[in-house]
Amino acid sequence: MNAGLHGFGRFAQHLLFSWLSHSRQFSIPYLVDEILSLEDVYQLITDHDRLDFSRFSPRLGAEGVVLTHSDGGEVEINYTCGIAAEVPWLGEVDLWLECSGRNSSIAACEPFLKGRTRQAIISATCWDADQTLVMGLNENQWSSRAKVLSYGSCTVNAFVPLADWLHQQYGVQQAYVNVVHNLPRHQLPAHSDPEWKICTLEKMAPQLLPWLSNEQIFVSYATVPYTGGSLIEFNFRLNRVPSKQEVLQKLQHALENTLKGLYRIETEDPGVAGVLGARENAVFPLSGIEVIGDNLRFRGYFDNENSAVRYLQLVELIVGN
Ligand SMILES: NC(=O)c1ccc[n+]([C@@H]2O[C@H](COP(=O)([O-])OP(=O)(O)OC[C@H]3O[C@@H](n4cnc5c(N)ncnc54)[C@H](OP(=O)(O)O)[C@@H]3O)[C@@H](O)[C@H]2O)c1
Repeated sequence: MNAGLHGFGRFAQHLLFSWLSHSRQFSIPYLVDEILSLEDVYQLITDHDRLDFSRFSPRLGAEGVVLTHSDGGEVEINYTCGIAAEVPWLGEVDLWLECSGRNSSIAACEPFLKGRTRQAIISATCWDADQTLVMGLNENQWSSRAKVLSYGSCTVNAFVPLADWLHQQYGVQQAYVNVVHNLPRHQLPAHSDPEWKICTLEKMAPQLLPWLSNEQIFVSYATVPYTGGSLIEFNFRLNRVPSKQEVLQKLQHALENTLKGLYRIETEDPGVAGVLGARENAVFPLSGIEVIGDNLRFRGYFDNENSAVRYLQLVELIVGN
């Protein structure tokens, strides 16, 4: 099975890196971005501040970028700089990986669903997606009839599986979320101050979690002009308040089962720089988990761009079905 990738921003770069490092189940023979030239793409790969693409021996090929996949095979990713709906390979891929940030609705993805292309998977919240599938929550509900899917977002993935698990254990009355989010380097000149933003989590979490209403979740989300990792904090007001010891014990068990690979608890505080490259949705130092009155607080970090790992897992699940 093969997939075409649209967009080569921070998310798509992390997706490509993860695919090269871990995924053998499908190929990515095509990449399109509307503005970046092939030289820009090659430079983003070879000069990456975070991801060491040198292990995949990148070089320019006749039609795109040539990389050596970790399985040893050489792959040439054919590159088009142009309008996505006009690429010559339209309809020739099984899946459309919509990672440009430009098309977050069914209508916007429809032009890509031609010929063999049966599903588009958006790397962001999509309000009218046929399905939003969050790993660790509802990925098993995948339907072959869905045309446009969303993997959620970095904050949706960070919040939703943990919140749902906690609700099952203790009953969540209210959730307060704080996010301090980085920016892609190329966006820094246009955003030189911290900015409050609307976070899609606030509306999407109640759509995904039947037990949570819009009045029970409050999200503060600010972007800061900085390219490192991001900060995340959850405060859950609970029906039944456990001791910290109890919650840690149960959580450790869940992290080996239903929440496996989705969160990490660190004995020592790794600091935000210490979570770059983390494949989990969020990392919490033990000191960041506290019971305060009837609230349970999780204060930690996340490598938001690396939520591409969850997106990749979702694509692999689709491919495997
Ligand atoms: N970054 C995250 O943490 C994250 C996490 C989860 C989901 N997402 C979602 O994924 C989508 C893409 O986000 P992103 O973080 O990849 O955004 P981004 O880095 O800003 O990239 C988005 C688009 O910006 C343009 N671009 C990328 N690098 C550029 C550069 N160096 N100079 C000039 N233009 C450049 C490209 O489009 P053109 O060349 O066609 O303009 C690219 O497709 C969004 O919907 C976002 O919400 C992002």
